[in-house]
Amino acid sequence: MGSELSCVVLESLIAQIRHRAVLAPMAGIADQPFRLTVKRAGVSLIFTELISAEGLVRNSRKTFDLMRFSPLERPIGIQLFGSRPESMAEAARIAESLEPDLIDLNFGCPARKVVNGGSGSAILRDTDLLRHIVRDVVRAVHTPVSCKIRTGWDAAHPVAEEAARIIEGEGASLLTLHPRTREQGFSGRADWSVIARVRACTGIPLIGNGDIITPEDAKRMLSETGCDAVMVGRGAMGRPWIFRMIDATLQSGCPVPEPPVGERIGFCLEHYDRALEILGARRGVREMRKHIGWYLKGLSYVSRLRSRLMIMEDPEEVKKNLREFSQTYDGQIAEEQDHGDSGASPQF
Ligand SMILES: Cc1cc2nc3c(=O)[nH]c(=O)nc-3n(C[C@H](O)[C@H](O)[C@H](O)COP(=O)(O)O)c2cc1C
Repeated sequence: MGSELSCVVLESLIAQIRHRAVLAPMAGIADQPFRLTVKRAGVSLIFTELISAEGLVRNSRKTFDLMRFSPLERPIGIQLFGSRPESMAEAARIAESLEPDLIDLNFGCPARKVVNGGSGSAILRDTDLLRHIVRDVVRAVHTPVSCKIRTGWDAAHPVAEEAARIIEGEGASLLTLHPRTREQGFSGRADWSVIARVRACTGIPLIGNGDIITPEDAKRMLSETGCDAVMVGRGAMGRPWIFRMIDATLQSGCPVPEPPVGERIGFCLEHYDRALEILGARRGVREMRKHIGWYLKGLSYVSRLRSRLMIMEDPEEVKKNLREFSQTYDGQIAEEQDHGDSGASPQF
């Protein structure tokens, strides 16, 4: 559409994300409680998990609910997947009714369920269809449209540069590239040189994605590829503060340490309360189990605590255990630093 208003909105959006870190869309993980937690930790742009265009067009309540977001999450993109241009355009109009900052089109999901329906990364096998979808969606809405792609379907058919040129040519405003093929899934390393090649052949604002775990990775991706911003997925699981760390490192140029245990558990407890409030106690307790596992990852002596937390049903008991762990753990780190590690494993 490219209205004057959307140009202004887009410019301020790009200014916000430039050289900063963006949260990856992650089905089953990047729900509202997680997104709000990450927002508190300084993320610049957020995407919802992928949402079925056909589900929206069929008026599925459950699908519509996946799109809901709070104004606190802005700027936010609603991500849609589908294979039929008319459904994608109609779904984009429905998504637009919630006034997101971006409508994001998924051309990268490798999941069998998605590609078997001809959606996600399957669309990279048919760049005419890709063009058709982007064109129809851009024409259907006033909201800026972004796209997320992979390198291609397999190593024999790399299409990132061609797809990027099509996406830019059809009037999309932002592109994210995860430089793995569908065939690779999440294995091997993301080939960042593909991001540099796409940067060289297009002028569209570009978000690089893949294997960013530390702020130094983010810094390196920005300088090696020339992308405008970096997107973090798995590196943010149980580590919402990664965005704050990346920001600080990019601003100061110096490495920034991971936060102490007390602060990590503080993030976890905040995330927990949001999950209880937004999802309700029963669902909140269950959804949070995997997140708690990630928050505790890498800490010593947590296996017993983790096993206990995974079966607890009472949220107050879970929080009490986490608080006690946090207080005791801080003490033990100090003790170990003062007197050396005796090798004994305290049992939480
Ligand atoms: C559990 C999980 C769910 C994901 N769901 C989505 C999704 O809904 N939409 C999408 O475009 N990508 C999805 N992705 C891919 C991520 O957005 C990202 O491209 C990928 O994880 C690589 O980035 P990373 O190395 O920072 O994790 C998902 C990844 C994971 C691990």
